[in-house]
Amino acid sequence: MLIANVSPRTGGKTTNSGWLAHALLEAEAEYDVIGFDADHSQQFRSWSITGEFAFPVKPAATAKFHDEITVPDGKTGIVDCGHTENHPDITNSVLRVADLVILHMSPTKADFDRIIDPPDKTKIGDIIAMSAALRGDRKPPPTWVLLNRTIAGASSTGLYREMMEDEGWNVLTTVIPRSEAFGQSVSFPVSGAAKGPFGTLVTELEKKGLLK
Ligand SMILES: Nc1ncnc2c1ncn2[C@@H]1O[C@H](COP(=O)(O)OP(=O)(O)OP(=O)(O)O)[C@@H](O)[C@H]1O
Ligand SMILES: [Mg+2]
Repeated sequence: MLIANVSPRTGGKTTNSGWLAHALLEAEAEYDVIGFDADHSQQFRSWSITGEFAFPVKPAATAKFHDEITVPDGKTGIVDCGHTENHPDITNSVLRVADLVILHMSPTKADFDRIIDPPDKTKIGDIIAMSAALRGDRKPPPTWVLLNRTIAGASSTGLYREMMEDEGWNVLTTVIPRSEAFGQSVSFPVSGAAKGPFGTLVTELEKKGLLK
């Protein structure tokens, strides 16, 4: 299966892709992970090298992703997409074949506005909806919002959860807190991912039947 990590702009995708991938590897089900980097920055791929990941992250910043990339049978693919604001064609291609889409955002007005009301870009919700026409099942991929860089006890988490739900989005119960450990993690080895919020995230995805 293929999990697409998306956001209109910087949203915590690379950090969360790395940690989610490791939480899947460390899970009881021992998911056999493979990464794809569909962002021109190639930061997920670079992290896999400097951080000595136990799985490969393949370069895949191409608008032919749906044609060129195949997730081998039994593997769980994690794809880190670039900004849909600047590179919609790559994400359009990924969305044709994604089995699950995770939209990464902070519970802030800045992130909310770029998702819900971008002044001169296609809304990411519309991009996902339009992908249906080019998918095998003619349905948009299951899509869930993951709130990240949340502050414990802050009202913003509940507020933006509600605001996103009011806009018709599914929002995961699990949130990823703001922390120095996550903030400084890109480019370094990852361990113990399953013990923290990313382990909780994997359990939630399993319970919701979102992981194949
Ligand atoms: N849970 C967290 N706590 C604190 N800082 C975080 C957390 N997650 C991400 N960050 C920081 O937020 C910034 C954006 O994260 P990241 O690079 O993962 O986003 P991105 O969506 O991949 O961005 P881009 O699309 O520009 O590549 C980075 O400085 C990162 O270190
Ligand atoms: Mg990134």
